[in-house]
Amino acid sequence: MNKKVVVISSSLRLGSNSEVLAQAFVQGAQAAGNIVEEISLKEKDLRFCTGCLACQSTARCWMQDDSAAINAKLKEAEVVVFATPVYFYAMSGQLKTLLDRTNPLFTQSCAFRDVYLLMSAAEEDPQLLQPVIHELEGWISCFEQAQLAGVVAGGGLSEPSAVSPDTKAYQEAYQMGLHC
Ligand SMILES: Cc1cc2nc3c(=O)[nH]c(=O)nc-3n(C[C@H](O)[C@H](O)[C@H](O)COP(=O)(O)O)c2cc1C
Repeated sequence: MNKKVVVISSSLRLGSNSEVLAQAFVQGAQAAGNIVEEISLKEKDLRFCTGCLACQSTARCWMQDDSAAINAKLKEAEVVVFATPVYFYAMSGQLKTLLDRTNPLFTQSCAFRDVYLLMSAAEEDPQLLQPVIHELEGWISCFEQAQLAGVVAGGGLSEPSAVSPDTKAYQEAYQMGLHC
């Protein structure tokens, strides 16, 4: 209750299923009285990390794009939620690009503890989505205080707008938000 929650959705397509899962989480988290901000990577200017590692001494990136503003919100959030379409059994390139650009946070004290992952995929079998969870766990392991608090594996969602409030994944995301 009254936690700062940041929800980042990374799909760029119209009628995004993972974005609807993100919105379900947002509604649940708001219903529980939390302060929630939703960020979509649509139309964000986000460049690839060049790997210079300057941010490890300066705690900032020399590239002037939208990552600094997103990092500032991530740093203050107590709960962080990432929503992604599954692409080739991995997270979206957009989300991976963002995670790489969070490296300026690596040397800083961040508030986030609970991290949630919301996925949409064509596959029905949640076991096949394990690689995406492992990917995010790699990022989480770099932030001592953080833990993976929950995962929604929305399978069988191929076409746009396949998720509705009747969908199991939607209900799971809403409940996760409610109890985050
Ligand atoms: C480039 C690409 C690769 C994909 N790879 C997979 C995959 O490996 N496994 C899977 O289950 N679905 C895969 N899909 C299907 C999407 O994960 C699915 O349509 C999902 O609902 C898209 O989420 P979105 O609506 O939030 O963009 C792929 C789709 C695209 C465009």
